[in-house]
Amino acid sequence: MKVLVVGGAGYIGSHCVRQLVAAGHEPVVVDNLVFGHRQAVAPEIPFYTDHLGNVDAMRKILAEEKIELVMHFAAFAYVGESVEKPLKYYDNNFIATLRLLEAMLTEGVKKFVFSSTCATYGVPPSLPIVETMPQAPINPYGQTKLDVENALKALAHSDGLSFAAFRYFNAAGAATDGSIGEDHNPETHLIPLVIDAAMGKRENIKIFGTDYDTPDGTCLRDYVHVDDLSRAHIAVFDKLGTPGTGCFYNLGTGTPYSVREVIEAVEKVSGKKVNIVEVERRAGDPPALYADSSKAKNGLGWKVEFDSVEKIVETAWAWHSSHPNGFSD
Ligand code: UFG
Repeated sequence: MKVLVVGGAGYIGSHCVRQLVAAGHEPVVVDNLVFGHRQAVAPEIPFYTDHLGNVDAMRKILAEEKIELVMHFAAFAYVGESVEKPLKYYDNNFIATLRLLEAMLTEGVKKFVFSSTCATYGVPPSLPIVETMPQAPINPYGQTKLDVENALKALAHSDGLSFAAFRYFNAAGAATDGSIGEDHNPETHLIPLVIDAAMGKRENIKIFGTDYDTPDGTCLRDYVHVDDLSRAHIAVFDKLGTPGTGCFYNLGTGTPYSVREVIEAVEKVSGKKVNIVEVERRAGDPPALYADSSKAKNGLGWKVEFDSVEKIVETAWAWHSSHPNGFSD
């Protein structure tokens, strides 16, 4: 299938592009390279440096490349920044996504796969999280993703859009051959920061809060490998045949790990000791988030290949130790 990957030079998008090629599909990438890296996409793949909100540019690409399905990964994803600068998040994550959908519907492209987030649930009433739980985001980032989810439902009804939205838990890891991986600037995610500390690029890792009501007092999260996430996006293609239908899936392993357990996993994989500094809680961090992904497993035949945080960290360690400066190396 001819697939337009919007945000295909970003962290999750670039891994998905490789999985699409491996599965025999033909990806075409659009990325404005604000956060994406041109080097993350193989040179032979058609690449357009454009913004998803540019309706004319998107229409032209959709028509000329004869696109059948669009995957959308391009979003700002710093939760803290979204609280400080909500307009930036509504503009890019919501309004620009509406423009992309407008371009698609104008050109008659009606299959859409959307990157949503567990942040749409806010603080869940119970764990693990199932798709039917109430969605009550506690920050603008989660709200913009939920706003898109609701727009998709309306467009399925009005225009026959057929869509799947994946609610990611904590995306982590890197391609197993070490050729692409996570390269955010600034980096805020736990695993790459602990790896930086193990590599001596940072003096220490700060643990944000040790007084949570969890077994070791630190937050629990569900770390899921970026290639496992990507495979779900392809497994869902079969579900996108019927116009006017949509589905939502959690994507997580279902196994929670504490911040301390993640640090231990990095120490084990790297063979290095990491200096820990315990600090106050980070505002807006729910104590525990982990998924019930039975729907994706049963409905899509989705299987988690990287079923422990140690396996995920091994791939991240391989990438970071061979690319200490990310894609600049
Ligand atoms: N953490 C630390 N020290 C750090 C960085 C993180 O202790 O230096 C902790 C956080 O407090 C949290 C855990 O490590 O408990 C994971 O933090 P990340 O920043 O790696 O990831 P988040 O769980 O905050 O964010 C993820 C996604 C977001 C999504 C969010 C939903 O990256 O896109 O889950 O809550 F919105």
